[in-house]
Amino acid sequence: MVTYPPMASHLETERLTLRPWSPSDAPALCALHAERGTGTSTLPYVQELIGAMLDRTVENGIALLPVRLRGEGGGRTGTGEDELLGYCGIVVGRSSLEEPEIAYELFRHAHGKGYATEAARAVLGAVARTGRERLWATTRPENAPSLRVLDKLGFTHDRTTTDERGEVVWLSVEL
Ligand SMILES: CC(C)(COP(=O)(O)OP(=O)(O)OC[C@H]1O[C@@H](n2cnc3c(N)ncnc32)[C@H](O)[C@@H]1OP(=O)(O)O)[C@@H](O)C(=O)NCCC(=O)NCCS
Repeated sequence: MVTYPPMASHLETERLTLRPWSPSDAPALCALHAERGTGTSTLPYVQELIGAMLDRTVENGIALLPVRLRGEGGGRTGTGEDELLGYCGIVVGRSSLEEPEIAYELFRHAHGKGYATEAARAVLGAVARTGRERLWATTRPENAPSLRVLDKLGFTHDRTTTDERGEVVWLSVEL
């Protein structure tokens, strides 16, 4: 089995920072989940999820990282911390540790400003630096914003499969 060094967990772009989760992110992550409209994530559930994500990163060296707006301390939240916009990173997902999947989700108020593309580009660079050669993405065919982000990043269509919720589009990019 091929082994890879851990991907970098502190990334910076022109407008964003990506760094590991902190327990204080739990209320914001709860609010992000609430925007999905598919049920409510409780604070204890999200606190456990954050712990599990951190554990998984220690185990397998890949990470979903919180995405924050740089230098906006106190911004919308008034907490004095850089505002959490969402997360971006990689997961095994439907794929494998050798060729993982990119994942991202941002608060609605942050959509349409190029943040997902900017964060994902930094993640692609971090994954490439682990020595991996290919990254996957799976999305629903109706998710036009996600497909557009993937297109901007150079992902190309590989195949379409189906699961219990309908069609799943598979795309990949060579790193
Ligand atoms: C997918 C998601 C992260 C994109 O975030 P974002 O920061 O708005 O993405 P960007 O601004 O970098 O790029 C979005 C692109 O989609 C385009 N777009 C948005 N809505 C669109 C639509 N309905 N049809 C076609 N294109 C659309 C935007 O115009 C932009 O492209 P452009 O730069 O060429 O103008 C965000 O929509 C999201 O959080 N969605 C919910 C979670 C989700 O679906 N995650 C992916 C699961 S596979």
